[in-house]
Amino acid sequence: MIKIIQGDITTLAVDAIVNAANQVMLGGGGVDGAIHRAAGPELYEACLKVPEVRPGVRCPTGEARITTGFKLPAKFVIHTVGPVYREITAPCGGSRPMGKRTRRAERVPRLHGEPEKLAACYRNSLALAMENGCKSIAFPCISTGIYGYPKEDAAEIAVREVEEFLAASTSAPCATVDEKNAEMDVIFCCFSTHDVAVYERLLK
Ligand code: APR
Repeated sequence: MIKIIQGDITTLAVDAIVNAANQVMLGGGGVDGAIHRAAGPELYEACLKVPEVRPGVRCPTGEARITTGFKLPAKFVIHTVGPVYREITAPCGGSRPMGKRTRRAERVPRLHGEPEKLAACYRNSLALAMENGCKSIAFPCISTGIYGYPKEDAAEIAVREVEEFLAASTSAPCATVDEKNAEMDVIFCCFSTHDVAVYERLLK
C-alpha cells in the first residue's frame, strides 16, 4: 500500500527508512545529516565498513546499500544516491516561422541520464528492502534538495517505480494469499506541505 505523510523520516518506526546519501556514504547535510544524527555514531562506523567500489565511492549513483538503524526507530537504513540534476537547456536550433512573428527557438532541456538514475534509486532500494524481509519502507524526496531535482519530475518517477514494484510483487505467481496480503507498505515521507501536495496530485 502507498501512503503519503508529512514529517521527519528519522521518527518513523518502519522496517527501513531510505537515506538520500552521497557516494562516499559517510553523512552530509539534509536528510543524510538528520539520519546520521538520529542514528548515532554507530551508523557512521557501519558506513565506514561498506566496501569502496572505487576510491571514495561506497555507493554509486542509483545503487543502494543497507545498514542497521542503530538508535533510529527504524530497523534498517537503506542508503541510496540520487543524481545531481544538471539540466542544460540549449536552443533546439533556429526558430520556426509562426505567422508574421517567429517563435523564439524552443529551449529543450538536455539531461544526463538523471531520470534513469533516480528511477534506479527507488527500484534498488525496494529490492534491497524486499531481500531483507522489510514489510514497510519510507522514502524521502530523493535528489530534490541539495541535488536540485525538480520536485514534480522526481515525484512522478518515484510514484511510477513504486507502483510498478508493488504491482509486480503482488502478481508474482508463487505469491500465496498471505504473501499477497503481506504487500510492502511504502511511505512517501515529505518534509514540506508542498511535497505532500505534489504526491497527492499524482496519487489521487
Ligand atoms: N525527513 C524527511 N525528509 C527530509 C528531512 C527529514 N528529516 N530532511 C530533509 N528532507 C527532505 C528535503 O526537504 C528534500 O525534500 O529530503 C529531500 C532530499 O533533500 P536532501 O537531503 O538535500 O537530499 P538530496 O537532494 O538527495 O541531496 C543529497 O545532500 O545531504 C547531502 O549527503 C547528502 O550529498 C548528499 C546530498
